[in-house]
Amino acid sequence: MKIIHAKDYNDLSRKAANIISAQVILKPESVLGLATGSSPLGIYRQLIIWYEKGDLDFSATTAVNLDEYCNLPPDNPQSYHAFMRQNFFDHININPARVHIPNGMASDLETECRRYDQLIQSLGGIDLQLLGIGRNAHIGFNEPDSCFSKYTHKVALSESTIAANTRFFDREEDVPRQAISMGMQAITQARKILLIASGPDKADALCACCFGPVTPQVPASILQLHQDVTIIADEESLSKC
Ligand code: GLP
Repeated sequence: MKIIHAKDYNDLSRKAANIISAQVILKPESVLGLATGSSPLGIYRQLIIWYEKGDLDFSATTAVNLDEYCNLPPDNPQSYHAFMRQNFFDHININPARVHIPNGMASDLETECRRYDQLIQSLGGIDLQLLGIGRNAHIGFNEPDSCFSKYTHKVALSESTIAANTRFFDREEDVPRQAISMGMQAITQARKILLIASGPDKADALCACCFGPVTPQVPASILQLHQDVTIIADEESLSKC
């Protein structure tokens, strides 16, 4: 794991956006694995600025998102479909046919999970996977568990994740309790992984991810086994490392 210290959130966002830009410039037809949450917002803002300046072209790029809540329609502003449109896809020239996000409204979620894994496989896997990290070290919505989930799967969100995500909803009871998440196979088969962390809330998770034992109780710890992981983190999130 390469750990890059960023001065602050802006610095972190610019450094990470540089890595994604380089990926898209070197391989315009890249498959980018993308993430939601507040951590990547600065990256998406920076990439939009560079796109608007004419420095980036996403017309050949494919996006596969990590996860989506169950039972939130894609036009619900809290859905990850809406988040990605509002914060990134609507501002760049990515082809909507090349944007993929799990369908949390599918009537048969098992079939949807299998479809998503097959889709990623048919794309040739992910070139660069962007990850945030949950306070409990989840990645995507792979929550602490007794084993790593290999395939895309339906998840019951943990209390800590529901509490953390309440800030995006009017009321705690509005936070969905279930989600679909990409599994560890698709994530760890990505050719490069870029994990970002910011703020003191992430310090325990980041320390356990980088220096603790590899265990499904700390889902992000699986990244220790990957050969090309870059972590960009600010001083607060690195304070326990
Ligand atoms: C959510 C997302 C994750 C994200 C995490 C951290 O649960 N499913 O992909 O990494 O939250 O979010 P934030 O960046 O807002 O702290």
